[in-house]
Amino acid sequence: MSDTPAKLTLPALGDMKRKAERLTSVTAYDYPSARLADEAGIDIVLVGDSAAMTMLGYDTTLPISMDEMLTFTRAVVRAVKRAVVVADMPFGSFQVSDESAVANAVRFAREAGADAVKIEGAGPSLARARAIVDAGVPVMGHLGLTPQSVTKLGGYRAQARTADAAARLVDDARALEAAGCFSMVLEAVPAAVAERVTAVVGVPTIGIGAGPSCDGQVLVWHDLLGLTSGHQARFVKRYAELGRTIDAALRAYIDDVRGGRFPAVEHTYPMPDEELRKLEAAKKK
Ligand code: KIV
Repeated sequence: MSDTPAKLTLPALGDMKRKAERLTSVTAYDYPSARLADEAGIDIVLVGDSAAMTMLGYDTTLPISMDEMLTFTRAVVRAVKRAVVVADMPFGSFQVSDESAVANAVRFAREAGADAVKIEGAGPSLARARAIVDAGVPVMGHLGLTPQSVTKLGGYRAQARTADAAARLVDDARALEAAGCFSMVLEAVPAAVAERVTAVVGVPTIGIGAGPSCDGQVLVWHDLLGLTSGHQARFVKRYAELGRTIDAALRAYIDDVRGGRFPAVEHTYPMPDEELRKLEAAKKK
């Protein structure tokens, strides 16, 4: 019998919602992180365009390119055996037209092996979602705080905090489902709004800063593991302080090298005595 776990399917994610089993998701952008996430039992590995900030050091998600996202997605797909892999469509890759949105989504599926793509927003994104789904690539929606619209939204702040805005968000969620989305992220919205959306749509909602009633939760890898510094969003829970662990390890390494304690005998390759004698003899010639 093989030890390889069975690959999760998109219908299985829908079944989890119906059975009230909570879904887990985390971002990953490289092979080792994706392998760890998958082996730990994460259901959805999201290759988020947050990679622009966490991996490439930009201030926003906007500058990351299709090629950069494809590289990250390929690495993740190579590692993942069980989880559903969703690739974020970067800014500019789906906004221009249905045709270019479909062409770029197909690249994620065909060239990188992603199971699905994620696109932000409603409005014009609804037609894009429909076109991509019709072309055969499953789509995850993303409502609430949509970081690609950070300028329009006036910063990274909670959305849908009035009854009117909440009603619009519920309508958008229904429209995304009608457009064929298999799931949707709800980011930085009041828990009561996410609860309402989760109740009215038939597809799983994945919350980040959207309270406990969502069908699942997602966190950014670097936030979850304590690899970020500076401002932290209210919704982040750090499950480890790997930044501190890495810092301590690097300082110990530097100390050992400078102090002549590394490498030690056990880190070096021995030579047969006879060959060593020949080497010594050659030195004396
Ligand atoms: O890019 C990303 O990491 C995301 C998650 C925050 C949902 O879109």
